[in-house]
Amino acid sequence: MPGRPTNALADATRRLAAAGFVAPEEEAAELAAAARGDDEMLAGLVERRSTGEPIAWITGTTKFCGLSIVVAPSVFVPRWQSEPLAERAAELLPPDGRAIDLGTGSGAIASVLLDRRPGASVLGTERDPVAARCARSNGVTVVEGDLFHGVPVSWKGTVDVVVAVLPYVPTHELAYLPRDVRAFEPTTALDGGDDGLVVVRRAVSEAREWLRVGAHVLAEVGGDQPDALLPILHAAHFGAIRVIRDADGDPRGVEAEAITSRE
Ligand SMILES: C[S@@+](CC[C@H](N)C(=O)[O-])C[C@H]1O[C@@H](n2cnc3c(N)ncnc32)[C@H](O)[C@@H]1O
Repeated sequence: MPGRPTNALADATRRLAAAGFVAPEEEAAELAAAARGDDEMLAGLVERRSTGEPIAWITGTTKFCGLSIVVAPSVFVPRWQSEPLAERAAELLPPDGRAIDLGTGSGAIASVLLDRRPGASVLGTERDPVAARCARSNGVTVVEGDLFHGVPVSWKGTVDVVVAVLPYVPTHELAYLPRDVRAFEPTTALDGGDDGLVVVRRAVSEAREWLRVGAHVLAEVGGDQPDALLPILHAAHFGAIRVIRDADGDPRGVEAEAITSRE
C-alpha cells in the first residue's frame, strides 16, 4: 500500500526518535533510500546515525544550494548557513570569470559556482588530501596545500572572486560546539586559533594580490569577527566592505571589493 511505512522504516523512525533526533521520519526515509530495501543494512545505518555520525557521511551525500554533493567520511559537511555566501559569490562571478574557493572541503561552494557559471574557471584549494579527493569526486579542480599554494602564478591579479569558508571557531569555543560535531568533524576544519581568525586573516591579506581591481573577496565569519577583520581588509586595499547577515540579522560573513591603493 503506497505511503504506508514498512516495519523496518517504522522501526528506524522509532529508534532515531528515541536517540533524540529532531526529524526522525525524514532521517529514517533518507537512510532507507540509502539502504535500497535491505532491512538489515538499514538497521546498520540507523545504528551508525544513533552514535551521532553525520547523516551525510552515512548516505554519502548532502544537499547544498539545491545540488547533491558527495561527502566522504571525515570531510566537513557543508552547512546551509553557508548557502547565501555561495550564491552571492556566484552572483559576483562573471560568466567567463575566475574564482578560487579556499578550503574547498567537499567542494560544495566551488560546485555551486560551476553550476551557476558553467563558463567560469573555478579552482578549489584544500590542505586535507581526503577532502581534496572528495571535492574532485564532485567535479572540482583542486590544488592541494595551504591557502593559495599551488594556484597558477599566471592567475595573480586576474581573479574575480575569492571565497573562503575556512576554520573560524576560536580554540576556546570548540568545547561549546554540539556534541556530535565535536565527536566526529575534523578539528582542522573548525579550529581558527586564539580569536578564530588566524587562517581567515591570512587568507584575506593574501587574497588581494590574486584579485583584479574591482573583484571581490567573501569570507565566512560569525559574531563580532567582521569588526575584527576591518583593519586587515583596509590594510590589504579592500573597500566597499559589507557584512553578510542571515535571515535573523546575525553576521555570517564579510564581502569586500579590491581597490587600488590610492582609492
Ligand atoms: C569549515 S571547513 C569548510 C569546507 C567548505 N568550504 C564548505 O563550506 O563546506 C574548512 C575547510 O578548510 C580546510 N582548511 C583549513 N585550513 C586550510 C588552509 N590553511 N589551507 C587550505 N585549506 C584549509 C579544511 O581542511 C576544511 O576542509
